[in-house]
Amino acid sequence: MKSSFVCSSCSYISLKWLGKCPSCGEWNTFEEKQVVEKNTVKSNSFSNSLGSTLGETQSYSPTSLEDIYSSLAASFDPLNPTGQGLLQFSNPFLTDFWNKGVLNDSLTLLAGEPGLGKSTFALQIIRDLIKGTKSLDALYISAEESLYQLAARAQRLDIPAQIQVLNANNLEKIIEVVAQKIHDKQAKNETKNLVLIIDSIQTIFSNSATGSPGSVSQVTYIVNQFLNLTKTAGIAVILIGHVTKTGDIAGPKTLEHMVDTVLLIDQPQNSSKYRTLSFTKHRFGSTDKLLFLEMAENGLTIVKNPSLLLLENIEVGIGIAYSLALDRELPLLVEIQALVHNSGNPFGSREASGTNKTKLNILVAILEKYLQLDLKSFDIYIQILGMPRGLSDDSLDLAIILAILSSLRNQTVDELFEPQFSDSKVSPKSTAKVDKTKLRTVFCGRLTLSGKVRNATNFKTRQSAAKKLGFEYNTAITELKDIQDLKKYLIKY
Ligand code: TYD
Ligand code: MG
Repeated sequence: MKSSFVCSSCSYISLKWLGKCPSCGEWNTFEEKQVVEKNTVKSNSFSNSLGSTLGETQSYSPTSLEDIYSSLAASFDPLNPTGQGLLQFSNPFLTDFWNKGVLNDSLTLLAGEPGLGKSTFALQIIRDLIKGTKSLDALYISAEESLYQLAARAQRLDIPAQIQVLNANNLEKIIEVVAQKIHDKQAKNETKNLVLIIDSIQTIFSNSATGSPGSVSQVTYIVNQFLNLTKTAGIAVILIGHVTKTGDIAGPKTLEHMVDTVLLIDQPQNSSKYRTLSFTKHRFGSTDKLLFLEMAENGLTIVKNPSLLLLENIEVGIGIAYSLALDRELPLLVEIQALVHNSGNPFGSREASGTNKTKLNILVAILEKYLQLDLKSFDIYIQILGMPRGLSDDSLDLAIILAILSSLRNQTVDELFEPQFSDSKVSPKSTAKVDKTKLRTVFCGRLTLSGKVRNATNFKTRQSAAKKLGFEYNTAITELKDIQDLKKYLIKY
């Protein structure tokens, strides 16, 4: 026995009652067919307040897959969304990044460290969605800033004036306001979609949960309520959440499984004006994508060609190698600089920034043992630019070794290799006038203590990210199986 709900407007079939049809966007069109409700449970206090307003019920009768299959044809494919169920961006970069747009019943967590630009970007998301979606209402709830602060920023960012704002930090009150808004829409037969921004999840509190605002119990409860709101009322909710540098337990990390999408805003090391945006989770699209943003006076702008951004400061020279680090799923181009200098002392000194000294000592030991180099009297310094704080990534090993060899030999990394093993195809003979634009090669690979070279972790992600950033992924060298084989490829060994 099954209970299903059919939209009287477009025949969309849902297994539970929905206030708004995800397919055609009509309100109050679901009619129950063959209803057998064994255990209809009001799931929680939210269901009692808003759920009853919307007539939401939850069926606890199991359904066979067969029944679901039969309704699939008429349903909405979240990976290929179209039509009313989709809030569309006007900016093509955002459209591509998000996979077509924001689903009208999705819950997104926009996470990042304080001050990186979450509130700014959230406002800009609304601005772009309003531009790209024909009919969209937006409600921005700020628990952190006064409405004057919010308005001052919004005006500077040229945010459409019809957006509604509210300064509130009590969950029950917020739900009441949203329920009223949905009610009013239903009464007026309005089909406009609604996007709701909550800034921020750590500053909202619920009367029904224990603990202080921002505590695990509060945050978990609140996210759960917004999850219900999203799914039952068919509105898109974007929650802003702070993560601390150490990944606070009360922070959004523990909540990742509850939301549909986690959008992380981050900052590469040594760059105060750039931000990276990536999905660490995305139920409706790919998590491979990466957007570079630049923070300027008029907010965040998308850097259309990140490789150019990096090329602004790119250095091509002796002792420099590029690699692709992965922070969770966020690929970052890093520049490894090495300085190897004969100290004249019996034992040289070693320092590392962007990685630890132990790693440097291990890699130098590998070079000494397997490439038969005597480096003990050399000072060896390395620094890794663009490396996120606190990240260590073993897949940079190969690039570090190459940077060290480059400095030791006093040749650029490209000049180290026989031309056929250099992806940049720059002939070593012509190095006096190297075409800088061709020197865009990244090296990734992990080294074992026995001198074997292993593929970088998430090799494919790194390769495609390198390509997106305008860099070649040097497969010839990174497919080395043994570090001793490097000798075959190096000029003058
Ligand atoms: P904000 O969005 O408040 O960060 P978060 O919500 O993540 O804490 O913005 C952070 C910083 O960005 C703020 O200190 C000032 C700067 N900023 C600009 O440089 N230009 C702008 O147009 C805006 C709105 C902010
Ligand atoms: Mg903020």
